[in-house]
Parts: sequence; structure tokens; C-alpha cells
Amino acid sequence: MTTRTDTAGELAISGGPPCVEDPSSHPHLFHWPIVTAEDEQAVLNVIRDGGSPSGTDISMQFEKEFAEWMGVRHALSYPNGTMAIHVALWAAGIGRSDEVIVPSMTYWASAMPVFSLGATPVFADIDPDTLCIDPEDIEQHISPHTKAILPVHWGGYPADMDAIMTIADKHDLTVIEDVSHAQGTLYKGRQVGTFGRVNALSMMSGKSFAVGEGGMLLTDDQSIYERAIAFAHYSRHDQLDDPALKAHAGVPLGGIKGRMNQTCAAMGRGQLKHYPARIKEIQAALNRFWDLLEGTPGIRAHRPPADSGSTMGGWYAARGLYRADELGGLSCAAFCEAVRAEGVGDCWPGANSPLHRHPALNDVDIYGDGKPTRIANSDRDLRQPAGSLPVSENIFKIAFGIPWFKHDEPELIAQYAAAYRKVALQADKLI
Ligand SMILES: Cc1ncc(COP(=O)(O)O)c(C=O)c1O
Repeated sequence: MTTRTDTAGELAISGGPPCVEDPSSHPHLFHWPIVTAEDEQAVLNVIRDGGSPSGTDISMQFEKEFAEWMGVRHALSYPNGTMAIHVALWAAGIGRSDEVIVPSMTYWASAMPVFSLGATPVFADIDPDTLCIDPEDIEQHISPHTKAILPVHWGGYPADMDAIMTIADKHDLTVIEDVSHAQGTLYKGRQVGTFGRVNALSMMSGKSFAVGEGGMLLTDDQSIYERAIAFAHYSRHDQLDDPALKAHAGVPLGGIKGRMNQTCAAMGRGQLKHYPARIKEIQAALNRFWDLLEGTPGIRAHRPPADSGSTMGGWYAARGLYRADELGGLSCAAFCEAVRAEGVGDCWPGANSPLHRHPALNDVDIYGDGKPTRIANSDRDLRQPAGSLPVSENIFKIAFGIPWFKHDEPELIAQYAAAYRKVALQADKLI
């Protein structure tokens, strides 16, 4: 394989040799999750043992180990992250006519369960450097109906929890972290998912902590834990102490069945054993990539400062930050197209689309109230017009994809870094 880390050569989009000549030669660099023979055997054991997929013994073991790793009192598993968030919101007391402040730039599952509970998500903008909820914007959206703030540690970057907890304390709001992108991320030395009163995460197959399909709820709070059982874990009501909740034994209050398939729990137990070491390697690889690009005009690392004690966890949905003004106004889309021509398949502009502009959160009358649910749930018009959250709305101009390396292989990583540097240094030729 001929490889080129020469950033002065002709751009591949103009006919020059690409920096990464044969991307298909190293699929192992990106393959995820890593599945061992032990993982396979554990899953097979579940399938072969008749009722085991619908049991709870392995899931409860997984929860215990997950809680220990996170340093929380309770972890409770669900079939997916969406349900874990839904239950966390209910367990925290979110209901009819309440408002929950959520970043606009996130996956829909951070916000839509708020709707399902008769409450309304109110969107805050993101910070252009962290891509997480902007604490300064949170305060603009607090009303007498606000009950909670739901930060998302987007792309593994820890949201500014000091500022968020201060705002929450000041206004007596509950914090519910969505940790779906950030299992293992540290904020100033402390695991994210341990700050909020109740927190939740996805473990679906694309995530950095991947079990197939799955979700986890985390809390130190016994009453939240018991409510979370009562809402969706109908077969575990024997774990309840609260007599009021015990009275409903056998019927989940949420009318939903929250039991995780134990094939996924078995996979999760295996993944957890290796997860801290594996994300350390991911961090080494991505930090190497960004160190090579330090000082490149127009692009910035999406990672916390090295001396902050904060990390990027498994660096899910890895992104870079784009600053077109440093590249003569070259659009992020044009930049990405040229990087892809250099052999980097993952380089696309943007991240999640802003939710506050989505029709589901503006026009759709989901429950037949004769008006959009965004109005019906709150009895006032909380819709947020175009232009109201400019950073989220410009996400396709300010962020781009980078390769999600799973192994720290210096030669290959240097080729990928060269692709970005070459295009940035020759941006004038693309304008
Ligand atoms: C930020 C975020 N929250 C919640 C979810 C929902 O999790 P799940 O797909 O496991 O339901 C996802 C992704 O899937 C996500 O990216």
C-alpha cells in the first residue's frame, strides 16, 4: 500500500494521490464492539437455556457490576436507552404540564419521552466548543413550570456539570443526565452519570458501550430506584420496600415492560470487563490524531483541555469543530467532500439535527388534542422559531465527522490526520 502523509501534494479531489490510499485494508481499526469467545459463549448459554432470555438473574448481576463500575448505588437495566430515559423522567416526578430543558442538538430520545409523559421539552442551545448544552442559555428558558434539566454529554464530551448543578440548585430543578454517548467519560475526574438525581444511557449496538440493544438507569436515590422498578419492572416488585408502590405489585405503573433480554445482559457483562482498557486505547488513538492536527487552521479538536481531569469516554460519534472564517469561508460541506476524497469515509458535516425545528415538536398533534402536542401539553405556545437557537441550527456548518479509531496505530492515524491537514492547508484552492 502506498501511503502519503505529504500535505503539500495535490489534493485528491483535484486528481492527486489520496492520503489514505486503501481505507478497506484496515477494517480492524474501526471494528466495534470487540467480541471475544467468552462473550459468544455467554450469549449462547442464554439462548440454549430455555427461559433464560426472559429471566432476570444475569441482568441483575450485570446491573450490580455496572453500578460498581460507575460508583452509584443502583443500576437498573431496560431494553433500550429510550425507555431508560422515559422511566428516569417519570421516576423523577415529571408529568403533565411540566417543562424539561433539553439541548436541541441531540438524538430524539433525549426529548421525546418528555412528551409521552404529558410534559414539554424546552430546548436550549449548545456551546459551539463542547457541543453540549450551553449553561448560559439554560437560564433563559427557565419558567415556573420547569422541573428538570436534561444535559447530554454529546459525543463523549462531558457537559459543564458545575454550571448545570449550580443552576439546578438555584432554581430547585432536578438534573437527569443522558449518558448515552459518554459511558466512562470523566468530568473533572468524576464519572458522568453520577451527577444527576437519576441518569440514563443507551447501550445499543452503535454505542461505545455496546450490548446489542439495552439501556441503563443510574441513581443513588432509593425512592427513585423503587419508582423505576414500579413503572416498568413488573416482575421485580418483590424488591420494593415502599408499601405504596408494593400495593401495585404485578402490574407496571407505566404500562410498559422494561425487562432487558438477557442475551444483551450477558454480552454487557463481558463488555464491561474490558471496557475501561478499551476506551483508554480509543482515547490514546484520538488524542494522537488531534495532537497531530494541533495548530491546523480552521479545525479544532472536540475534546476537553488535557489538564482538566475530563475525558471523552469511548469518544462516541467523534467530531471535529470547523471554523470557516479561518479558511477563507470554505463551507464545512466542501471541506468534508475534499477530506473524503483523501480516503476518509467518516468525514461528513454536522451532528444531530436541531430538534426544536423538527415537525414532531412543532406541528404534530400526537394525542388528538386538536392542537400540536407542543402547545397542548403546556397550554401555551412553547414552539421555538428558526433563528432562536443559532448554534444548534448551524451545526452543519461548525462540526464534522472524524474517524472513530478503536486502536492506537500511529502510522495509520498519521495518514488520516494528514488528510484533514492537507485539505485545511490548501483550502484556498477549493474556494
Ligand atoms: C443521546 C441519546 N440518547 C438516547 C438514545 C436512545 O437510546 P436507544 O437507541 O438505546 O433507545 C440515543 C441513541 O440511540 C442517544 O444517542
